[in-house]
Amino acid sequence: MDIRPCTDQDLEALRSRWPAAGDVHGKHHARQSAGHATYLVAWRGDEPLGSGMVQWDGCVGPAAREAFPDAVEINHLQVREEFRGQGVGGLLVRAAEDLAARRGRTQVALGVGVDNPDAERLYLRLGYEATVVLDDTEYDWVDEDGVVHHEVERDQVLLRTVRRPAG
Ligand SMILES: CC(C)(COP(=O)(O)OP(=O)(O)OC[C@H]1O[C@@H](n2cnc3c(N)ncnc32)[C@H](O)[C@@H]1OP(=O)(O)O)[C@@H](O)C(=O)NCCC(=O)NCCS
Repeated sequence: MDIRPCTDQDLEALRSRWPAAGDVHGKHHARQSAGHATYLVAWRGDEPLGSGMVQWDGCVGPAAREAFPDAVEINHLQVREEFRGQGVGGLLVRAAEDLAARRGRTQVALGVGVDNPDAERLYLRLGYEATVVLDDTEYDWVDEDGVVHHEVERDQVLLRTVRRPAG
């Protein structure tokens, strides 16, 4: 498996092999091009397995920003359904942490829906610690019929300290 920041060439492969309504891949890639984030994608050959973002400008939710102003946030973590439970999500988190540590960032935050105990279990196993900080995250998504759905999700912030690699 290869985990790397999404290149221009990768973007075209992503759009055709893993179509997402609302051009989600394009939006994440544009945010990366503007220097605000890194859009990491896991590949097996030319098949995209999953992806996640590292937000260099810090946590997205206001409560998390205030409580942890120096943290980077990993968000939009998603593994395609048919590839879940094979370690892809865990490796994406570790790759994001490595990037953060190489940039000298030591605090990594993750928001997990309070109704998503499966994902929370993974993050706790990866060494993240629960905090008492909660944020309401609002987002829109477009379904296959082009209908826009507005969602409000209550997220608990989890935190992990990472170390800059030696050498
Ligand atoms: C959460 C997610 C990214 C994990 O990716 P993954 O590649 O399946 O994870 P790994 O194989 O590295 O680790 C497996 C662990 O992920 C969690 N997990 C498994 N299936 C899951 C699912 N459908 N939804 C949420 N978490 C799941 C469990 O903790 C599992 O551990 P277990 O086998 O002991 O139960 C992936 O399941 C997913 O995309 N879920 C839907 C979107 C989502 O919830 N994203 C997280 C937002 S915070």
